[in-house]
Amino acid sequence: MEKESFKVTPWEVKGDVDYEKLVREFGVKPMPNLPEVFNKNVLFRRHIVYAQRDFDRILDAIKNKKKFVMMTGLMPSGKFHIGHMLVAQQMAFYQKLGAKLYIAVADLEAYNTRNKDFEEMKKVAVDQYLLNYIALGLSPKNCDFYFQSRRSDNAEKSNAYYRLATSLSRYATFNEFSAVYGEISPGKMASSLLQAADMFHPQLSEFEGKIPVVVPVGIDQDPHLRIARDIGGRYKDSKFIQLSSTYHIFMPGLKGGKMSSSNESSFIAMTDSPKEVEMKIKKYAFSGGRDTIEEHRKHGGVPEKDVSYQYLRMFFEPDDEKLKKIYDDYSSGKMLTSELKQILIEKINAFLKEHQRKRKLAEKEVGKFLLKS
Ligand code: TRP
Repeated sequence: MEKESFKVTPWEVKGDVDYEKLVREFGVKPMPNLPEVFNKNVLFRRHIVYAQRDFDRILDAIKNKKKFVMMTGLMPSGKFHIGHMLVAQQMAFYQKLGAKLYIAVADLEAYNTRNKDFEEMKKVAVDQYLLNYIALGLSPKNCDFYFQSRRSDNAEKSNAYYRLATSLSRYATFNEFSAVYGEISPGKMASSLLQAADMFHPQLSEFEGKIPVVVPVGIDQDPHLRIARDIGGRYKDSKFIQLSSTYHIFMPGLKGGKMSSSNESSFIAMTDSPKEVEMKIKKYAFSGGRDTIEEHRKHGGVPEKDVSYQYLRMFFEPDDEKLKKIYDDYSSGKMLTSELKQILIEKINAFLKEHQRKRKLAEKEVGKFLLKS
């Protein structure tokens, strides 16, 4: 199948993404064979998490029952939607495996690159992100949730983090920034260096000391990892263990493209009502079905292109056999688009009903995550 031109950078995703091409262009590796615990997880089993760098180091740590850190970050803007569950589910998964979590609210990055206001971002980080993370299974134990603009109330820790963020620039050149990012502004450069500090600082003596760190992100974030790995590898004041990272495909937006909180008709939010979910799926969800029922019965639909099918595959139908039956029925023409959409609507609404109940309970837990030094 011929793909149209596409673009994937940390600041912009557009077009019909060719994920295999990105693997080659970025120089990341496919996932290796994974131990059984991973295969129990839909995201790993179905290759939603599909590429990696140095992931073997994390697999070794798990095998040898050694400590490791999972570090990732979030952009505190807009509503939390089902696409954000990709990272949230991995957080909960690694935490259950015994990892210590570091979660950065990228408020300085959003301040510098998206003109956001700190107070507003704090509210979004808690009401949208943290509450949903907790409802999705995140526990305050072994979890360091922090704001880039306020690393810690412990001065030694805080100093160490900001010292790293600013001193990393000594080992970076302008040319490598241009080579990796193309166009680059001072704000983006500062964000990139700060993100490198996010990813390496767990290894400072003020934090965990030398320790393997895995960073699960969308494939658009790999340029940040490339820069961080290069610069961090040259850093002299601490000898860091190289970063491990995994990359997931994007959650498709309802109409295709990437699901984005800045585009209302692209996402299902965790707070959407059953009626809203039904309306959005029926009205917007891009269909891989044929133009007429007659044609559909004859040629069948194309699940690979069908957003409703993709949502079932990524989250909402965890049973492989049931998913296969849907795939077969849809691609043979036995199942119509309206029927496929109905299955998805019911699945999402059942999930959100339970999630919204847990989210209410999570309100009491929030305090346990905030402002621990
Ligand atoms: N740049 C990331 C985003 O756009 C947010 C982020 C900040 C991050 N620090 C990080 C991601 C460290 C992973 C690791 O979403």
